[in-house]
Amino acid sequence: MGYANIIFETENGIATISFNRPKALNALNVQLLQEFTGAINEIDQDESIRVLILTGSGDKSFVAGADITELATFDALQAKMFSQFGHAVIDHLQQLAIPVIAAVNGYALGGGTEIALACDFIYAAENAMFGLPEITLGLIPGFGGTQRLSRLVGKNRAKEMIFTGSMISAAEALQIGLVNRVCPQETLMDEVLKTAGQIVSKGRVSLRAAKQVINSGTDADLTTGNKMEIDAFALCMVSEDAREGTRAFLEKRRPEFKGGLK
Ligand code: CAA
Repeated sequence: MGYANIIFETENGIATISFNRPKALNALNVQLLQEFTGAINEIDQDESIRVLILTGSGDKSFVAGADITELATFDALQAKMFSQFGHAVIDHLQQLAIPVIAAVNGYALGGGTEIALACDFIYAAENAMFGLPEITLGLIPGFGGTQRLSRLVGKNRAKEMIFTGSMISAAEALQIGLVNRVCPQETLMDEVLKTAGQIVSKGRVSLRAAKQVINSGTDADLTTGNKMEIDAFALCMVSEDAREGTRAFLEKRRPEFKGGLK
C-alpha cells in the first residue's frame, strides 16, 4: 500500500513509521490516521517485523496533535466518530504483539502525546515537548489522554497537565516517568535503534507474553495479574524459544531464537 502522509520502512526486522506532514508539524488528519491504521495492519500480519519505532519527519515535531483545521469543522457526531476512530487506531497500536518504541523528536502534543502513551516506552530528544493542550481549544483529550496519562504518571500530575494545557520539557517528562530516556536529537534514532536491536535478538514468544502480561496484568488486581504471569510463564516454557534459550545457556553459546510455539 502506498502512503502519502507517513513513511513506512522496514530493515532487519525493525519497522519505522515516520509521521510525515512537516508543514503542519505532522498533525493528524483523517487521511494520516487511515494510513497509520493501514500500516499497523500490515505490521500485524508480517511475521518478519519484530519491533516498531514511531517518529516524526523533520527535526521540530513528532506529532502536533489532531489537525485543528479539520477539527474546527466537526459537529458533535463527526467529533464522536473522529474520537472513536482515533481510539480504535491507538488501541490497535497498543495491542500489537511486538514491542513499540516512540522516538519523540520535538513536539508531542494532544494526539501526539496520546500516540506516544500507547507505545511500550518513549525515548525523547532534548528538544521534545509533551502536552495535552486541548483545554486551550475548549476541548479535552480525545485519543485516550485522560486515561493513559493518568495511569502512567498518576492522576494528579495528569490533571495538572490537562487542566493547564501547559507543555512539559523532555527533562520534566523524564522526571515524572513519562519517558524512559532523553538524548541529544542527533543521537535519538541511534539510541532507539540500539535498544530495538537488543529486543530483535530475543524470542518472539517470550516478548509477546511479557508485553501481554504487563499490559493486561497492570489493569487487573495483583492476584489476577500474578495468575496471568504464571500461565504465560508455563506457556513460554513449552515454546521452541525456551528450549533453545535454556539449551544455549547450558552449552555456553548465544541463543538463536526461531519463534515457533511448539
Ligand atoms: N493542526 C493543524 N496545523 C497545525 C497544528 C495542528 N495541530 N500544529 C501546527 N500546525 C501548523 C500551523 O498552523 C502552522 O501552519 P502555517 O505555517 O500554515 O501557518 C505550522 O504548523 C507551523 O506551526 P506554528 O507556526 O504554530 O509553529 P510554532 O513553532 O510557532 O508553534 C506549536 C508550534 C506550539 C506546536 C503550535 O503550532 C501549536 O500550538 N500547535 C497546536 C497544538 C495543539 O493544540 N494540539 C492539540 C490538537 S487537538 C487534539 O490533539 C485532540 C486529540 O486529542 C486528538
